[in-house]
Amino acid sequence: MEQVLLLCALLVFVASLVNAEVHFHEFIIQETPVKRLCRVRNSITVNGQFPGPTLEVRNDDSLVITAINKAQYNISLHWHGIRQMRNPWADGPEFITQCPIKPGGSYTYRFNIEEQEGTLWWHAHSRWLRATVYGALIIRPPLSSPHYPFPVIPKREFTLLLGEWWDRNPMDVLNMAQFTGAAPNVSDAFTINGQPGDFYRCSSQETLRYLVGSGETVLLRVINSGLNQELFFGIANHKLTVVAADASYTKPFSTNVIMLGPGQTTDVLLTADQPPAHYYMAAHAYNSANAPFDNTTTTAILQYKDAPCVTTQARAIPAQLPGFNDTATAAAFTAQMKSPSKVEVPLEVDEDLFFTVGLGLFNCTTPNTQRCQGPNGTRFAASINNVSFVFPRSNSIMQAYYQGTPAGVFTTDFPPVPPTTFDYTGNVSRGLWQPTRGTKAYKLKYKSKVQVILQDTSIVTIENHPMHLHGYEFYVVGTGIGNFNPSKDTSSFNLIDPPRRNTIGTPPGGWIAIRFVADNPGVWLMHCHIDSHIFWGLAMVFLVENGEGHLQSVQSPPLDLPQC
Ligand code: C2O
Repeated sequence: MEQVLLLCALLVFVASLVNAEVHFHEFIIQETPVKRLCRVRNSITVNGQFPGPTLEVRNDDSLVITAINKAQYNISLHWHGIRQMRNPWADGPEFITQCPIKPGGSYTYRFNIEEQEGTLWWHAHSRWLRATVYGALIIRPPLSSPHYPFPVIPKREFTLLLGEWWDRNPMDVLNMAQFTGAAPNVSDAFTINGQPGDFYRCSSQETLRYLVGSGETVLLRVINSGLNQELFFGIANHKLTVVAADASYTKPFSTNVIMLGPGQTTDVLLTADQPPAHYYMAAHAYNSANAPFDNTTTTAILQYKDAPCVTTQARAIPAQLPGFNDTATAAAFTAQMKSPSKVEVPLEVDEDLFFTVGLGLFNCTTPNTQRCQGPNGTRFAASINNVSFVFPRSNSIMQAYYQGTPAGVFTTDFPPVPPTTFDYTGNVSRGLWQPTRGTKAYKLKYKSKVQVILQDTSIVTIENHPMHLHGYEFYVVGTGIGNFNPSKDTSSFNLIDPPRRNTIGTPPGGWIAIRFVADNPGVWLMHCHIDSHIFWGLAMVFLVENGEGHLQSVQSPPLDLPQC
């Protein structure tokens, strides 16, 4: 009996090897004229496409992507959500796992898809280049078991990349904010697959239409590839059934609206069960902070094939979205996410970490000067445990670690708890608003069981911070409003079927608890996926040590890895 089982397992393994494919791509990074909102702006694109090319693979496949930088900026590419087991060299964040690819240079990203299925995406991980350098990365089930575990098998699939568009060059918007210390300008439009849609100037000709047959069920892969804004998304008169998020399947549930923070993906099934007509699919901001935001609405059209023609006055049936600050709806949506069945969550933890995340302000010696245009003449800052992360410049952290030359690049003294205990979500005294700068990593032993409480603070403003961890997927075991209280809150953790994510938002003025096993050695960035917060310092790095032997150690770096 045992031998038969062994033989079966071997056959399945061989079959998966035979079916696995290697996909080769060339990504030419170049300046391309793109016309939006009545104006042409030169944008950085991949292969002249905006959004960039969609990568379509199956579980167990491999990707080989040669990035050729023909643009005038340094760049690197990140494959958001891919685990990159023992292979930080292909992860991409500049100055974390690689030095950027210089203009005229190139680098080949080689990586395998290992036990992941669903919707991910890729984007530039340099400054604000991801505003236009991004695309979908779709992982279908392997040929050896090609079926989706969904209640209904979809007839077609559409990928919807939600983005943000600036009339000005996003790199100039960032440079300006870095100079003045004030908040960067908000976007001028949101987009669905690069198009703003009917409610913007000079845009309705290009509004995207997605055709469905009456009675059909379709799979929508929705990705928030926006830079700075959480978004609500919904479709007029249609229910959505959530079946996956961040490339992990979920227990299906039905909802009118979904909310995604930048970086997050959600797969939904939609059945065309309404009278044949044209229905708006729409997205607008979920704004949890006390701060200016882009209050426009992007749309595309879900068009029944047998719908009667419509006049231009009423293009489609309008979608109802929640109010911009409807935190209750956002929280109720997120609370429904669960893994499909019982999962293996660490029940005990070796590393019990408590991280405060939030904004801050750097005081200026001469306030209100050109470089101090933030609130009350300060400069904006952000931090985790009061450390405002500074990206190194002379080398990447991973390269410096691998070469044994951390001096001047990073230190390993990131604090496991904040330097002072205070009422994080209360009225915080001004003396605690100013973080300190540093490039600090937190060391983790191979295979240690890690819990991190991510506690939002009310410094400057409470806010939903979509926290993303590179190289890992984690379980979200708990969440709450106010300050985390270990003696009371730990007992209510879901250790049975919590959702598995790569990006999760802190509730504004609240906390989330995540758990993972540190089984992937290397240097892995954790940061808020709101790009205006990253350059203020809302980031830190986990340095996961090697285990024993080469199967538990970081692979050797590729020969063409860019040097600083
Ligand atoms: Cu999707 Cu560090 O990023």
